Amino acid sequence: MPEAGTLHTAFIDELRDSYDAEKQLTKALPKLAKAASNPQLRQAFESHLKETEGHVERLEQVFESLNEKVRGKHCDGIAGIIEEGKSVMDEDFDETTMDACLIASGQRAEHYEMAAYGTLIAWAEAMGHTEAAKLLQQTLNEEKAADKKLSALAEGGINRSAADAAHMEDHEEPVGAGASSGRKSSAKSGRR
Ligand SMILES: [Fe+2]
Ligand SMILES: [Fe+2]
Repeated sequence: MPEAGTLHTAFIDELRDSYDAEKQLTKALPKLAKAASNPQLRQAFESHLKETEGHVERLEQVFESLNEKVRGKHCDGIAGIIEEGKSVMDEDFDETTMDACLIASGQRAEHYEMAAYGTLIAWAEAMGHTEAAKLLQQTLNEEKAADKKLSALAEGGINRSAADAAHMEDHEEPVGAGASSGRKSSAKSGRR
């Protein structure tokens, strides 16, 4: 009977998965930055690209701290998220709607990474790999900060602008007025 894999085996496997995911993200983030119209959003993607390059290096340090070879293993999960992001970029959206959608794509990636690092840290701690846990925690903190930054940009104006653009066609109706509340113009108010 072959020897069963241990949590250590699973841990190394997940590290390889994350290493590959980070590398895929270093190629995807410049595309998100390029597609963004809002200068602060572009800046957010660019600065997270720099951090992501640091995440690749930090994982190399983690492998070294465990005396393991630095190696990646194709991450299907992040590949799918990146693929969905590409489909969004192919859509014909107005600028501010595209920005809102780029944030949505970016946040899917951040949450995926946060889940992966959360598990890696818990496993590293459980097995007493304190150096690895410390390094992984630094990366998790940056993922969380990147996610918060994207939320702040969305909620600080981008979603509002996109929503305003979406409702421009019925701008004659005051916000909050029911469209079918019996106002005499409501029946034929030019809604499409
Ligand atoms: Fe990362
Ligand atoms: Fe990230």
